[in-house]
Amino acid sequence: MCGIVGYIGEQQAAPILLEGLSKLEYRGYDSAGIAVYDGNEIKMVKSRGKLKVLEELTQGGMTLPGCVGIGHTRWATHGSPSDINAHPHFNKNHTIAVVHNGIIENYMKLRKKLEKKGYVFVSETDTEVLVHLLDYYYNGNPLETITKVMYRLEGSYALGIMFKDHPEEVYAVRKDSPLIVGKSEAGNFIASDVPAVLKHTRDVYFIDNQEMVKLTKDSLTFYNIDEEEISVEPTHIEWDITAAEKGGYEYFMLKEIYEQPKAVADTLNPRLKNNDIVIEELGMTDEEIRNIKKIFIIGCGSAYHTGVTAKYVIEGLARIPVEVDLASEFRYRNPIFEPGTLVIVISQSGETADTLAALREAKANGVKTLGIVNVVGSSIAREADAVMYTWAGPEIAVATTKAYSTQLIAEYLLAMKFARVRDVLSQEEMEGMIEDLKKLPEQIEFLLGNKEKIQHFANRYLATEHVFFIGRGIDYAISLEGSLKLKEISYIHSEAYAAGELKHGTISLIEEDTLVTAVITQKELYKKTLSNVQEVRTRGAFVLAVTNTGNTEVEKSADYVIYLPETNKYFTNSLAVIPLQLFSYYVSLGKGLDVDKPRNLAKSVTVE
Ligand code: M6R
Repeated sequence: MCGIVGYIGEQQAAPILLEGLSKLEYRGYDSAGIAVYDGNEIKMVKSRGKLKVLEELTQGGMTLPGCVGIGHTRWATHGSPSDINAHPHFNKNHTIAVVHNGIIENYMKLRKKLEKKGYVFVSETDTEVLVHLLDYYYNGNPLETITKVMYRLEGSYALGIMFKDHPEEVYAVRKDSPLIVGKSEAGNFIASDVPAVLKHTRDVYFIDNQEMVKLTKDSLTFYNIDEEEISVEPTHIEWDITAAEKGGYEYFMLKEIYEQPKAVADTLNPRLKNNDIVIEELGMTDEEIRNIKKIFIIGCGSAYHTGVTAKYVIEGLARIPVEVDLASEFRYRNPIFEPGTLVIVISQSGETADTLAALREAKANGVKTLGIVNVVGSSIAREADAVMYTWAGPEIAVATTKAYSTQLIAEYLLAMKFARVRDVLSQEEMEGMIEDLKKLPEQIEFLLGNKEKIQHFANRYLATEHVFFIGRGIDYAISLEGSLKLKEISYIHSEAYAAGELKHGTISLIEEDTLVTAVITQKELYKKTLSNVQEVRTRGAFVLAVTNTGNTEVEKSADYVIYLPETNKYFTNSLAVIPLQLFSYYVSLGKGLDVDKPRNLAKSVTVE
């Protein structure tokens, strides 16, 4: 979603802002703009379209002198993508400029009030109410003014604000939208995400909800909503800027697919100690683990899909009942929280609005919460009672790959830990499973080595209109992910079905040459899924099967077979996902689409 950058320092601001915004492009946007104080006034340039347009308009920022500025990439919510709706937004005298990420839910009410007071709105955005409200309350004291405005806002916001009569300062504030602050010798920064500042500094500050920061070129001062100074500790970012760059790959998605062996190993290895699984960050005693009566797993999109896998794994291994919920449904369905409930929320970004709201709903009901999160210091990581980080490193492509794979690892580890503590998994069985887990990175590597076969297959399906993914049990869970991956980056309609459900309606859509991808990795279900494969083939479908090495029986029923290395039955999704990711990638590439930034999508969905 929208991206914010701000800079105040010794150097020309505009090129720094443009460069920072380019590192936030992955979030998804349709227009961009910057505002810079040039020594006399705040100058603004903004336009619909990609950053390239803004770069051309400003000659790479060179036409905008000045060392203080704010910038923005906009993902349209209120009002179409247009020059006028792009941020920053000005007050009437162009003395206040604002960039905003989030949604002001009561903006209509505020807009009507302001219009009655004579304010004239030029855009359709909710953001414009902010700048007019700031204008209305402005008394020469930015802090007081910002807090007055905050008290009147409902919804979510991260704001970067400049006041013409405080030209040596930039202000920022957040509520339920991400914002980080960076400090360097050459000046200070605000940004929606770490990659935007990483070229300049590794020392970043995560500010909490309804906290503010005043930046000057050589100082940072943090405040709470009562305008009291507070202290915020910096976090040193360990990962390198190269981790957030393409490193020779054509697209981030392919780079991230190839990073999976390392990401899986990094998430797994620190939690394996002396043939045991140690998850210190869980903060639960064995007694508490034994007392878990029920688990809710909550997420959106791919994170939800890993939750579906986790349900099979946790129920199968630890025999604890699991309910998996889409966060957007969970938060409004009035769920029943009983003593002994554990709520696990899963999120790569740690900022997904619905997942965060679901977490808060759980916390408000007094149950223990655990976040499985990739972005260190994100809102979910900070608000959950416990956080288990996935060590995937920065994920830039909108379509998740390595974060998905590491979420699976975290879930396997939890399931095995719970099962062992509850004594439904013997030490010997657990050690055998640990050995299988340790093999996953090299098995993923092996599958990546066969990418040409999948690329070749994908190229045959560039013009296809509909694809179905089928499987049973855990294979159904991976079908959900395979289908989402394909549709989000290739714009091909695809659906995932529990194979046994096909004949209850969907089979009517199968016609000559419809592509059906069947995942068949669960031995006890081989025959059942193979019957479903027969059913669709009889009706003309072309079947791509993904199955275990040795299951050659499948060749009699499927048209094209991809074999996976042998692993524990609970871990097969970690391998089956690789050909499915590669298939989507190569279809998207073959169609000439923007693989990393599919239309209409944002990496981090920070609005409801
Ligand atoms: O950051 P999160 O993991 O909370 O994001 C959840 C979904 O928005 C995300 O998985 C989305 O479905 C991806 N585009 C899938 O590739």
